[in-house]
Order: sequence, then structure tokens, then C-alpha cells
Amino acid sequence: MKLAAIVGTNAKLSYNRKLLYFMKKHFKQAADIEVIEIGDLPPFAKDVPNEDQEAVWRLKQQIRLSDGLIFSTPEYDHAIPAVEKSAIEWLTYHCDVLVHKPAMIVGVSYGKQASSRAQIQMRQILMAPDCDAAIMPGHEVLIGNAMKVFDKHGLLTNQDDVDNLEHAFMSFVHFAEMVNGQTKEDELMAKKEPFVDNAYVSFPTGRLSLKEMQQIFEALPVELDLVDADDNFVWYTHDGDRINERNVRQLSEPISECHPPKALAHAQQVIDSLRKGIADVVPSAYMDRGHRIMTWYVAIRDIDGHYLGTMEVSQKVDQIIDLYNKGTWGQPREPVTAADDAATGSSDASTGASEDGETSASQSGDDDEADGSTGASQSDDEE
Ligand SMILES: Cc1cc2nc3c(=O)[nH]c(=O)nc-3n(C[C@H](O)[C@H](O)[C@H](O)COP(=O)(O)O)c2cc1C
Repeated sequence: MKLAAIVGTNAKLSYNRKLLYFMKKHFKQAADIEVIEIGDLPPFAKDVPNEDQEAVWRLKQQIRLSDGLIFSTPEYDHAIPAVEKSAIEWLTYHCDVLVHKPAMIVGVSYGKQASSRAQIQMRQILMAPDCDAAIMPGHEVLIGNAMKVFDKHGLLTNQDDVDNLEHAFMSFVHFAEMVNGQTKEDELMAKKEPFVDNAYVSFPTGRLSLKEMQQIFEALPVELDLVDADDNFVWYTHDGDRINERNVRQLSEPISECHPPKALAHAQQVIDSLRKGIADVVPSAYMDRGHRIMTWYVAIRDIDGHYLGTMEVSQKVDQIIDLYNKGTWGQPREPVTAADDAATGSSDASTGASEDGETSASQSGDDDEADGSTGASQSDDEE
């Protein structure tokens, strides 16, 4: 279980942050807790320009990808700190990341009553219609006397506090599993309307079973994303090791939620040019984590030319560039042997096809050369 733990303050020294790091360590067998700061968010205002919302976008992503939230809230003047309220406003204004998200509230403060008044207020806020978080009922983690409850290693010293925290946290893990399980069931029910099994789809160029289609998408040496005609992200291939990390929780989200604010304007511009028919394909080349990446944004249209969406096709092209630099395309029918490919670290090219003397360069290269390595052209040669 992946939990996002939000430090409810921007103070550099915070006992509530200490509590969350204690929980991260203490409960590492039960959950992967990521401690998240809100100090770099701009104060909420409806008209903050999109390009100044990078930190807001990151926070939303972290929350969206989590299975639940822990809010550790200080108490300022019997209420939650303004910075924490501002963060929640960012998460609810034109945004639904908190909706049905399992949430637990904990808190440390100086006073005897711990942060009890702030926590009650926090519960009320999280129940507001635009928040609609699934707050765990029935448990309170109220730790007062903040300056004396941690030792120099950041460990809670009072065993009663630890016992109460353990009890509340394990209840929260079960609660979050229950809430998330229910949500998944609802999604499945929604999908149950017309269900097709073992079906075939007939294309103008042949017939494929659904299973074959799925596996073809998995096997393609490029990763695909689809944004539909309403600019919602609806489908992707290669769950796992991807160039552009995607998650099923992002499905059906508008593209504004899937792109960092800095990249959004460009993405929207590309999609608009494809929608309007100004372009059919927009290429983009860039470096990412040491790899040379080529992305093509491709307009998908029906046979009458109506725009259905934009497909993003991304590929690491290091191997192609290395082959080009070695002059592979300058020497027609020069085989790339399995041994050569092993030296370049390529696995694809060391297939049976290569061993038969066919070059992987010509298989994926320009049309003339590609045809030259097929059975058809071999018979041409023989003629
Ligand atoms: C402006 C302000 C108001 C405070 N009001 C309260 C309060 O109402 N109740 C309380 O128990 N502690 C109050 N405190 C003390 C906090 O509990 C204490 O600063 C605590 O360390 C805050 O949590 P943190 O260490 O995570 O920042 C207040 C502190 C500040 C700075």
C-alpha cells in the first residue's frame, strides 16, 4: 500500500514532520509512506498562472497515485495552519484528487489537548462536498507536549502514544483497503454492460482476436498513449517500464492532469493543430534520463476525416542512431550479426531473423532496403 503523508506546515522545524518520518520507519512493513511537503506551494488563488503551478501539479500527481493520505496537522489558534488550508484549496479547486481518497488525521502540538481542535476542523474540511475524502472514523491520534515526546533519534518515547498510533494506523490500512476495493468493484460493475469475450475484430487488412491485439500492443517496440477527442487521457500500452510514466488512475483524466504545467501549453497546442487538421503528425526529439527519445503525435481520424483523438508514439532511438553512426545503411545487405548486436547491447537484433542473415537494420530501415531482405526480394534477386 502506497500512502502520501502530508506535513501540515511550512515550518523548517516541525514535530508533525517528525511524527510522519517516525510513522514511515515504524510502519515500513505495512505500507510505503511518502512524506510530502506543502511549503513550496504558492498561496491559493484562483488566478495564479498555470506555469506557476508546477508544485501544485506535482502534489496532485503524488496524491492521485497514492492509495491513501495521512494528514499530520499542527494547531495554530485552535485551527489548522493557513498553509495547510491553502493546500487543500489547491486540491479541490477544479480538481477531484481527494474525492473518495481514504484519509487519516494525526497531529502533534504543544497544548495538553494536543491538536484536537485543529483535527476536528480538518475532519469538517475533508467532508466538504468538493473534498469528499473517505475519512477514517473512530480513531484519534492526539499527541500533546510536542517538545518532550520525541527522543534525539526522532522516536516517540511514550509507549501509550506508540500503542495508540499502531492501533489507529493498522485500522487505517484495513479501512483504505476496504474503500479502494469498493471503488474497484464499482469500476468493474460499470464495465460490465456489454462484455465481449474471445471476440475477433475484422480490419480491412485482416482479422485479429482481442487477445492477439492486446499482445501486439504489448510487443510493439514503441509505447502508445491515446488522448480522445475531448482531450481526456484514455488508454496506454506497456504498463511498467515506460519512457512517460503512466498509471491507470490517470485514465479518463483531462490532459491538464497528466502533463506538468510547463509542458501543458505545448501539448495543447500540438493537439489543437492535429484536431484542426493543420498537421497529421508532429514529431518531437528530446533526451530523457540519458536516452535519445523520438515522439510522434499522430492525429487519429475516422474514414470521413473526423478527429477521434491524438496518439502519442514514443520510442528510445539510441540503437537506431548507433546503427546509423556505424554506417549500417551505407552498406546494403551488410548483415548485422548477433555478435555485433550483443556488442551494442541490443537484444532485439539477436533473433532468429538475424541469425538467418537478415539485418535488423533493413527490417526496420528504409523501404527499399527493407524489401530487399524479404522473401519477395530474394526471389527478385534469383530472377
Ligand atoms: C501561530 C501559532 C499558534 C498556535 N496555536 C496553538 C494552539 O492553538 N494550540 C496548541 O496546542 N498549540 C498552538 N501552537 C503551538 C504549536 O502546537 C507548536 O508550534 C507546534 O510545534 C506546531 O507544530 P509543528 O512543530 O509541526 O510546526 C501555536 C503555534 C503558533 C506558531
